[in-house]
Amino acid sequence: MRTETTTTPQEHSEGPAAGHPAAPHPATDPSIDWPALAAAATEAMRHAYVPYSHFPVGAAALTEDGRVVTGCNVENASYGLTLCAECGLVSALHAGGGGRLAAFTCVDGDGTVLMPCGRCRQLLFEHAAPGMLLETVSGIRTIDQVLPDAFGPRQLDEFDGGEA
Ligand code: THU
Repeated sequence: MRTETTTTPQEHSEGPAAGHPAAPHPATDPSIDWPALAAAATEAMRHAYVPYSHFPVGAAALTEDGRVVTGCNVENASYGLTLCAECGLVSALHAGGGGRLAAFTCVDGDGTVLMPCGRCRQLLFEHAAPGMLLETVSGIRTIDQVLPDAFGPRQLDEFDGGEA
């Protein structure tokens, strides 16, 4: 008889950003003002620098300690150097004192919710509070739902050094 093996999904947990003041678990916190976050993202989107794609993006997030951080995409004549809106947001997070992201939304040029690209889901994971929520095209999702079994700081912490 074959024995089913199951792997435990890896929930986001401690990382380099751990140690910030505790806050209500965002997944159960009804105080997240999603329309206000979308408005902040839309305002940021208006500052996007997109002469090549003409596809402006704005992102906004609520930190665990109640700050709102935003970002917009900034393109470059060397196309591959384009900075997604999430890059600016993460930079703003740290420039404003650090902390973790509790809730996130992202909009396109119409102000319509946009799914963060794969690279940016990884970027957000690194700075996510446990249970971080994202407004997505399929509703409110957790960071672990949009980036299952993620690679993150824990894998580096757990590596024993090996013989490689
Ligand atoms: N873009 C973002 O800013 N964030 C995403 O998550 C998806 C894509 C930007 C990059 C580029 O400037 C434009 O959208 C078109 O790909």
